[in-house]
Amino acid sequence: MNKKIIIIGATSGIGREVALIYIAQGWKVGIAGRRETELETLRSKAPGQVSAQVLDVTQPDAADKLHALIEQTGGMDVFLLSSGIGKQNYVLQTDIELATAATNVEGFIRMTNAAYHYFEKQGYGHLAVISSIAGTKGLGAAAAYSATKGFQNIYMDALDQLARMQKLNIGFTDIRPGFVATPLLKDDSYPMLMKATNVAQDIVKAIERKKRVAIIDWKYRLLVFFWRLIPKWIWLRLPVRN
Ligand SMILES: NC(=O)c1ccc[n+]([C@@H]2O[C@H](COP(=O)([O-])OP(=O)(O)OC[C@H]3O[C@@H](n4cnc5c(N)ncnc54)[C@H](OP(=O)(O)O)[C@@H]3O)[C@@H](O)[C@H]2O)c1
Repeated sequence: MNKKIIIIGATSGIGREVALIYIAQGWKVGIAGRRETELETLRSKAPGQVSAQVLDVTQPDAADKLHALIEQTGGMDVFLLSSGIGKQNYVLQTDIELATAATNVEGFIRMTNAAYHYFEKQGYGHLAVISSIAGTKGLGAAAAYSATKGFQNIYMDALDQLARMQKLNIGFTDIRPGFVATPLLKDDSYPMLMKATNVAQDIVKAIERKKRVAIIDWKYRLLVFFWRLIPKWIWLRLPVRN
């Protein structure tokens, strides 16, 4: 029997590359995002293996649409949430902050809750999300982005603890990449930029090994290690730009 994965945010960037790997491995893959044309382009690569659903995580009907996609895919063993937005916001434009929170917090809660309840009912499952290393400390250049990613890290810990309290057979993987060359970054001027294809391979491995937290890649594991050691009084005084 083919294993089944649902990937929300598979129309571009990391989510799309991860979907391509699972397709190549013969999984049944359910893909979602807001852009129908991109979904269809990906689905047409393996129409017998891939199901697609237009879905906006900020909308109340997103959970129902997820269930429709699971049905089309024939079930769900692994859930991967890749949907996310983020912008540098040095002038602290409030609409950018609120839109980021709507997708990365409200949409994140909506989708992880729907997946959690599905696995609860099913009796097993693996719930993975792509957060970021940006949640390690508050970033003045992208306040909402870093804060929402920190929220995602803590929310995954909370869901893990809850599942253990409820004696549920659900695994959790919080994937935290460093900079990846995708449309999210808009340009290539970021340091230590990784290729989405390489990052996707590491993500598939982390899910396969059921890693609880996966910082990608090793250079960023080192960076995060030292970043966490910086005392807050120093961190707040550092003019961090990319
Ligand atoms: N690129 C990086 O440097 C980097 C680093 C660390 C973590 N991440 C995280 O990795 C994840 C994927 O980002 P990416 O770099 O691959 O960027 P991307 O190419 O812009 O992909 C973002 C994906 O999220 C989907 N999405 C955005 N808003 C959505 C909504 N309201 N409803 C449903 N889907 C939505 C997009 O699909 P539609 O537009 O079709 O809806 C797209 O498929 C994000 O959570 C991001 O924060 C990225």
